[in-house]
Amino acid sequence: SKRPRVRMTVRSSSLSVTPILTNLQNTCATPLPTLRRVADAITADMRAGLAVDGGSDLKMIISFVDSLPTGDEEGLFYALDLGGTNFRVLRVHLGGKEGRVIDTEFERVTIPEELMLGTSEELFDFIALRLETFVQKEGGRFHLPQGRNREIGFTFSFPIKQTSIDSGTLITWTKGFAVSGTAGRDVVACLNEAMERRRLDMHVSALVNDTVGTLAGARYWDDDVMVAVVLGTGTNACYVERADAIQKLQGQTPSSGIMVVNTEWGAFSNGLPLTEFDREMDVASLNPGEHIFEKTISGMYLGEIVRRVLVSMADCGALFGESVPEKLSTPFILRSPDLCAMQQDKSDDLEAVGSILRDIFGVSVNLSARKMILEVCDTIVKRGGRLAGAGIVGILQKMEQDTNGLLFEKRTVVEMDGSLYEHYPQYRGYLQDAVIELLGSEISKNVIIQHKKDGSGIGAALLAAVYSKYK
Ligand code: GLC
Repeated sequence: SKRPRVRMTVRSSSLSVTPILTNLQNTCATPLPTLRRVADAITADMRAGLAVDGGSDLKMIISFVDSLPTGDEEGLFYALDLGGTNFRVLRVHLGGKEGRVIDTEFERVTIPEELMLGTSEELFDFIALRLETFVQKEGGRFHLPQGRNREIGFTFSFPIKQTSIDSGTLITWTKGFAVSGTAGRDVVACLNEAMERRRLDMHVSALVNDTVGTLAGARYWDDDVMVAVVLGTGTNACYVERADAIQKLQGQTPSSGIMVVNTEWGAFSNGLPLTEFDREMDVASLNPGEHIFEKTISGMYLGEIVRRVLVSMADCGALFGESVPEKLSTPFILRSPDLCAMQQDKSDDLEAVGSILRDIFGVSVNLSARKMILEVCDTIVKRGGRLAGAGIVGILQKMEQDTNGLLFEKRTVVEMDGSLYEHYPQYRGYLQDAVIELLGSEISKNVIIQHKKDGSGIGAALLAAVYSKYK
């Protein structure tokens, strides 16, 4: 009964998969000129997006965050984090300069797939319910001053047309979400309605993108943090812009003189080295034609691109032989943690690769095929990591140009977050290589690309404190 289910087809085994690999490697190659072209295109798109709404693929969303945490923040704050595979609720007790973060507690749940494809009401009811259960666990430990209710920093990691620090309408879902009835609506209003249905007396003080939360969380500890990048299920970056460089603010410059801008770089598309497999995946996706950069470099898609390449290799009969596993035709069955696990196998016989493939596809794969599959993974992961690096340089060079070359004279920190960056050493390595190749080793010394685990998550709570209604 354990026999794997296979699709039997007669194939000419004389066909070889090598040309497919060579072709793939050529198309996915990211030599320095390609990286430079991508970085320059991102810089140009940033400028066009800052000039007018809709000026380029990059939406360059005004976050309304014009002050960042200083360390003085005090009190009890909540954070909600909706953005990818998981939903998180967080409680942070801030103690000001002396006490800093006194305590944090959080809960994480996987979002059931039916909610990702359900109705807006169902999704926000789920969030409110989780929040309510979590708040109840306070168990009388905290007492708020009379007349105050609990404040929330709401991290909502999808493209939002921000209308103020605590409101914004959903432009479109990404990353496999297709919830009906939310697009065009204020997501804070959606949450408020769900909280009212549960008689939950709390309010949102800051609505932020995950990149903005990451930036704020890192800034709390380090004043040199200027850019934040998320590389997880999806990808995006934000940075601290000079308010007078944002034409579309039309003179409404905040007194701080700065504004955090959410680039929504996932939507970038100019001049990317794409293959037929990328195009086919895009066409089959929930948001065809959109978020092409995200589909090329982020965690949700890397495995799916590899799977599509393997399907075409299997069609030549030289990868799995005559017995192509049926599961190979299941979209998204290969995930980036699988690619990552395979790439950690450094043994000669690739035993671990074999067992991972057996677990996923239910068939044994011979050594030469294992090697081939690893090559495919590496090609796609290398392209992703290096293009992500080019994206970071695109942002840094925009800031550098605007400071007449002063930016790189001092320490500048790029805070990274997201599971792909955190857990995939090869991806991280390729990203760093690309940044160094583009900036040169001297300048790279001043650019610190870091991931501090503690910072992420509390960023939204910190912004709720900065923008507290009771200040
Ligand atoms: C997607 C979203 C963006 C988010 C990113 C990372 O690209 O559109 O808002 O920041 O994923 O989670």
